[in-house]
Amino acid sequence: MAVTHEITPISIKWQEKFSTFNSNRMNYVREILKLASDPEMILLSGGFPDPKTFPTEAVHRLIDEAIERYGSNIFQYGDSRGFLPLRLLSLKYLSDRGINTEVENVQIFTGSQQFLQLVGESLINPGDRIIVTKPTYLGVLSAWDKFRPQYREVDLESDGPNIKQLEHEIVDGVITGEAPKFIYLVPNFNNPSGETISLEKRQQIAALAQKYGVPIFEDDPYRELRYSGEHLPTIFSIAPDHTIYSSSSSKTLFPARLGIGVAPFELLQRVTYFKQGADLNTANFTQAIFAEYMKDGSMERHIPEIVGIYTPRLQVMLNALHEFFPREFTFTRPEGGMFVWVRGPKVFDSEKLLPIALAQKVAYVPGISFYANSDTAERNTLRLNFSNQPEERIIEGIKRLGVIFSSNQ
Ligand SMILES: Cc1ncc(COP(=O)(O)O)c(C=O)c1O
Repeated sequence: MAVTHEITPISIKWQEKFSTFNSNRMNYVREILKLASDPEMILLSGGFPDPKTFPTEAVHRLIDEAIERYGSNIFQYGDSRGFLPLRLLSLKYLSDRGINTEVENVQIFTGSQQFLQLVGESLINPGDRIIVTKPTYLGVLSAWDKFRPQYREVDLESDGPNIKQLEHEIVDGVITGEAPKFIYLVPNFNNPSGETISLEKRQQIAALAQKYGVPIFEDDPYRELRYSGEHLPTIFSIAPDHTIYSSSSSKTLFPARLGIGVAPFELLQRVTYFKQGADLNTANFTQAIFAEYMKDGSMERHIPEIVGIYTPRLQVMLNALHEFFPREFTFTRPEGGMFVWVRGPKVFDSEKLLPIALAQKVAYVPGISFYANSDTAERNTLRLNFSNQPEERIIEGIKRLGVIFSSNQ
């Protein structure tokens, strides 16, 4: 029936319409990134690569090569599983990491963040136990909170998760009929702690996964950013039938929103179904550029340049922390990645002091953002990023924080 008389519109109360999928987690990273437009702000907060590391000139050439090789197909909608040439090239990339697999087990995602999200959507029911480290990657909590899992935390030590606690969590779940759905781990240069799981612990974790039939999600975007020490075998290479593996273009090319996911075919079929609902497919265009980048050896040649930029930044940050932070503060000494994790005395509260730091033009992320369960969050911790600022600004930022933390404990 056509409306012929004037209507008084009823205003929409969006809050009342919201779904019950909720996360009350305060996303400091997002909040603090809003400050990025202030050129005076020393950003030790986000996890951004330095744009200096982006191979801009090579990308000009790679785009031409991709169009030449694949034609206008790269502008078209594509296969939800990923651009086939990139999936095939990924097999070699993965095999260099000890991941020997078949193309049907490899798919491309819109960032490894999307792979995390879709695996969560494919596996997690409300109340399911998921084992995470304490602390863990904030982005995974944002991705999975809405599925309402029960996060079971195990302490993250300097060489990886506490193995006793890990076994206890698994056994407790098995006994009570609530076996953990999976264990989520970042093996190299963890976000936020910067540290790496030792070979011994990788083997122990793999053995536990096999013994109890619990899968591992090995989230490995930082592997290439190693500044000292030796590459360690992936957990996947030790327990291939029990591990889901994730890698990314974000740290070796640029955040082109490209993730590489490896998983059993039956799981990937389900993940693909959800991906079609999320974005149909990842852009062929960026996938073709990444394929060219892998194919012509540009990636192998470029990684040492990235490492060359970040290595002194890490060193400068560690030296400055040693020089300017109060003695009672401890900090991790990563061998790679983008982050250093700081722990103050028990009474120290990094969230409370953030406004003072921001007023003095230094940004960091309070550690409480990285704990799955708010009641166990340690308020005396914070995460510092060293990849995004030149050395002088890192030193100045740490100096300012040192003064603030010394006078406000
Ligand atoms: C541990 C971890 N996993 C996944 C991601 C997401 O990476 P991507 O850019 O591939 O979505 C990040 C990004 O910082 C990360 O730190």
